This record gives sequence, C-alpha cells and structure tokens, in this order.
Amino acid sequence: MNDDTPDSAQELADVLQDVRRHLLWQEETAGRSLLVDAKLAAELQQQRAATSSVRSMIARTKAPEPAAAPPPPRPPAESPSRDALHAAMKQPLGAPRPLAAATPPPAAPRAPLAAPPPAPRAASAPAMLLDVPKSTPRYNGALPGVVEGERPTLDQIRRELGDCRRCKLCSSRKNIVFGSGNPRADLVFVGEGPGENEDLQGVPFVGPAGDLLTKMIGAMGFSRNDVYIANVVKCRPPGNRNPEPDEIVACEPFLRSQLLAIQPKVIVALGKFAAQTLLRDTTPITRMRGQWREYEGIQLMPTFHPAYLLRNSAEKRKAWEDLQQVMKLFGKHPGSSA
Ligand code: URA
Repeated sequence: MNDDTPDSAQELADVLQDVRRHLLWQEETAGRSLLVDAKLAAELQQQRAATSSVRSMIARTKAPEPAAAPPPPRPPAESPSRDALHAAMKQPLGAPRPLAAATPPPAAPRAPLAAPPPAPRAASAPAMLLDVPKSTPRYNGALPGVVEGERPTLDQIRRELGDCRRCKLCSSRKNIVFGSGNPRADLVFVGEGPGENEDLQGVPFVGPAGDLLTKMIGAMGFSRNDVYIANVVKCRPPGNRNPEPDEIVACEPFLRSQLLAIQPKVIVALGKFAAQTLLRDTTPITRMRGQWREYEGIQLMPTFHPAYLLRNSAEKRKAWEDLQQVMKLFGKHPGSSA
C-alpha cells in the first residue's frame, strides 16, 4: 500500500487517536481491575504494539510536516491534565464506563462465614430466652387453653396441646410428658424435660433422677400425689441433651398455663432451665438457688436439679437446705437430713 495522500494520513491519525484513547482507558481500568486478567493484559500488549506501528507509519507518512513531531509526552499518571483527557476521551469512545461505575459498589457487610457463636451454654449460659433466634416467635402472653379472665383446667390445656408438633422434639419423642400429680397442689416441682424413662412412660421424673426427687418429696413430708410435677419441655430432647431455646419457647406457654390452672402456693424450680425460664433470669443456678423468688405472685424456690445431685452428691446438703425453707413455709418441721 502506498497511500501517502493527506486523507490517508488523516485516517491513520484518527485511528491512532482512537487506539490511544482505548489504550489509555484500558490502562486506567487495568490499574484497578483488568490486569488481573492475563488475557486482557496480552490484548493490551498487542494494542501497544499496534499503536507503535501506526505511530511509525504516521511518522513516515508525515515526515516533512510539523505534525510529524513526536507525540506529546504522556501526562503523569495522576495529573489533572490526564484526568481531563480521560474525561474528554470518554465522550467520543462511548464505551468506557466512568471510573466510579467501574469501581465495584461498596460491598455489603460480609456475612460471617459461620453463624456467630451462640452464647455459651454452660453454667452461666442458658440465657436461653436471650439466645432465641429473632425469627422464633416469642411467648406473647397468650396462654394455651386459657380463656381470658378464666382459670383453665389441666384437661383443657392438655387438649390444647394435642399431638403437639410445635417444635422439632415431636419427631423423636415417644410420649408427651404433660405432668402428673394433684391438679390442686399447693406445691409444684418443675424440672427440665423428660429423659428416656419418662419418654417411655409419659410420666415425669420416673427414672433415677425421679427416684431421688420422690425421696426428696417424701423427706419434705409430702407424697407425689400431694404435689404436681411438670417440666419446661414436654418431649424428650434426643440423647437427653439440653432443651434448645426454640423448644423452650414453644413449650413454655403450656407450663405457664398449667401453673395458672393449678395456682400453687409454692413452686420449686429444679435446675437452671426451670429457674431461668420461669424467672426470665439468666443468673446461674448456683447463685439463684436458696433465694426466694416470685413467679406471677407465687413463691418460687430455685434449687439444684436431682440429676445434678446424683452426679454431685456433696451438693445435696444445699438442696436440702433449700427444701427446708419450702417446708417452713408450709409449717413443716424437718429433721436434719434428706
Ligand atoms: N429430668 C427432668 O428434668 N424431668 C424429668 O421428667 C426427668 C428427668
């Protein structure tokens, strides 16, 4: 090709200009993102080579003209004149997105890789009700089986409970353990949840911990028929694990209804789940035990759970002291040991 006319030179100059614009835009964005792409980097290299060969063609074509002077030096990378050039270049090229748009929008707060760790579940933990996921409906004061202003019966509450499917414990339980004893009891014991024996029989506290509780009740001068026994959750947590917050939230209203039905004088909360759930207090049971509290106008005594006492027999003495306080309230005079 030997097209050394001024028109050809102009065309080549236009091509060069376009290539330069594109090149500059590429460089501009490459500094931010494109160079991570090896393919694009190679393309950039090719474009540079093409530009340089077009430059030399133009240089040859326009050799005698002043325009053949070497291309103006590139403005320094961050100079305002280069910015101005870029701004001007964006218009004719049309294609390049403004830098602001080329920059990814600020990232949304990263979701943690794993759910944030739950509140510790050991001694101080059972912030049970505080642990409840936001999506879990909370107890809202409406009591199952209770007509407003009326004292329900345990039968009504049991009917309302039905073949309960309100939480996941329903899938592994054998029996719902509703509660047992005197529906007009002055003294109610509240445990945590059924174990294996209770699940099989549908009756609370009939396993080893139940044997100890039965002895404690006897030592207090009562029989199991005198008192009422219930649990925070009415279905066995698999493997006797702790009841989970959503399970407690689902079941707790039934316990509250039962207490409203029975209207005892005293509640003995056996262990942290019973005490913390009824009192809405996350204080460890080691600190709560032995101190009179009040639940809906009813005297409540927190004490250790019998299963804990089976594992820690040295603590039985403290539990017995707690139960003696209850006995005093009923005008009973204990001996000195359980
Ligand atoms: N432990 C409990 O908390 N409740 C039972 O019914 C049996 C064991």
